[in-house]
Amino acid sequence: MFFRAATGYNGISFPDRGSQTLRTPAPSASHRLKALVAYFRRNRSFLSRVFRQYASNTLRVRVLKRTRVVEPLSAVFYVTHRCNLACHYCTQKYPDVLSREASTERTIDLLATIRPQVGSLYITGGEPLCRHDLEEILAAAQKLRFFTILHTNGVELDRRPRVLDLISSLVISLDSVNEDHFDKVTHSAPGTTRRLLANILAAGRHLRDTHRPVTLNCVIGATHLDDVYGVMDFCRQHDFIFSCCAALQNDLTPYPLLANPRYQKLVEHILESKRRKSLKINGSLEELEYILKFRDFNCYPTLLARIYPNGDVYYPCVPLKTVGGNLFETPSLQEIYARARRKFGDIPDCRGRCHLYSNVTSHFYVHKFWNLAAEYK
Ligand SMILES: C[S@@+](CC[C@H](N)C(=O)[O-])C[C@H]1O[C@@H](n2cnc3c(N)ncnc32)[C@H](O)[C@@H]1O
Ligand code: SF4
Repeated sequence: MFFRAATGYNGISFPDRGSQTLRTPAPSASHRLKALVAYFRRNRSFLSRVFRQYASNTLRVRVLKRTRVVEPLSAVFYVTHRCNLACHYCTQKYPDVLSREASTERTIDLLATIRPQVGSLYITGGEPLCRHDLEEILAAAQKLRFFTILHTNGVELDRRPRVLDLISSLVISLDSVNEDHFDKVTHSAPGTTRRLLANILAAGRHLRDTHRPVTLNCVIGATHLDDVYGVMDFCRQHDFIFSCCAALQNDLTPYPLLANPRYQKLVEHILESKRRKSLKINGSLEELEYILKFRDFNCYPTLLARIYPNGDVYYPCVPLKTVGGNLFETPSLQEIYARARRKFGDIPDCRGRCHLYSNVTSHFYVHKFWNLAAEYK
């Protein structure tokens, strides 16, 4: 169903359809209709918000062409910049602009502030589990009735089992199931891969029991291209959703990868797996083609409000390193964007230079909404 399943890197939250298993026989038409009606009933307020926003965004952005600033549908909250790993491609562990973490109490206040403005919350970092108060933050988000997605490297999950009871959906990063390769990519201590794989399987069992999706996000890099096949097999074997994108370099799409025959072969394999439905893969087929073949797209970064640990909200986006305002000073995302637009101008036409799932999804949300909707039907 559309608009809640977890996604890949900094993804938007789209409703869960992830818990369905591909290998089960197709349900009958009447069963599907009943499930659809139940789904709409369950997500009535969320869906009406999505459609209302879609209509208003279409009018302002596509019909009147007044602006490219769209209303936020979801908040991506970088709760910390700290991390226990050191993935060689990562730009988020040491971002160009560091911000101090707000206290637990203020962080919870911030969640209460944004709750009337967005229904879903994507918790990322740095490594969210580095925050000792993550359970308190997630419990507050649960109480506020956020649809909360946690994106983690998963290494510490065995020491923090309670977090699994406080979230709606889980995304764990996994670039390789090969111990040697994983340790090299993440610069982690020996034994980390085994611990992580055990944690992923345990989290999978736990969340599946309560029909919540688990996605494994794989970053494709020239140094570990062939490891992606192993991650896909692991997802297939254990019924996880697979999500992927190429590793950006300095926040930019690595265009030279397109000329690499091993990358081309891998992309065809991923697209074919999507076509044949032999694996649950995040995004529609067309969206995946945009992400993996680096097709031009229009980015609408405000669809996902990017919030740093101190409450700073980025405008138009994190790679441009410009802060639009701070939620502790201006408690309205709309107001922050309106002021930032006056100060920095409208969203620039960068022709989509960072092919992350979330950015491409923003293009689809504005230009190909029904392609997304069909994927989640
Ligand atoms: C920045 S991390 C934060 C959450 C957590 N520490 C983790 O690794 O899952 C979120 C996601 O961004 C991905 N990522 C980091 N740097 C990236 C880059 N340069 N290009 C594409 N994805 C990247 C990571 O692999 C991870 O899946
Ligand atoms: S675990 Fe996440 S935050 Fe840490 S270095 Fe890797 S990608 Fe970056």
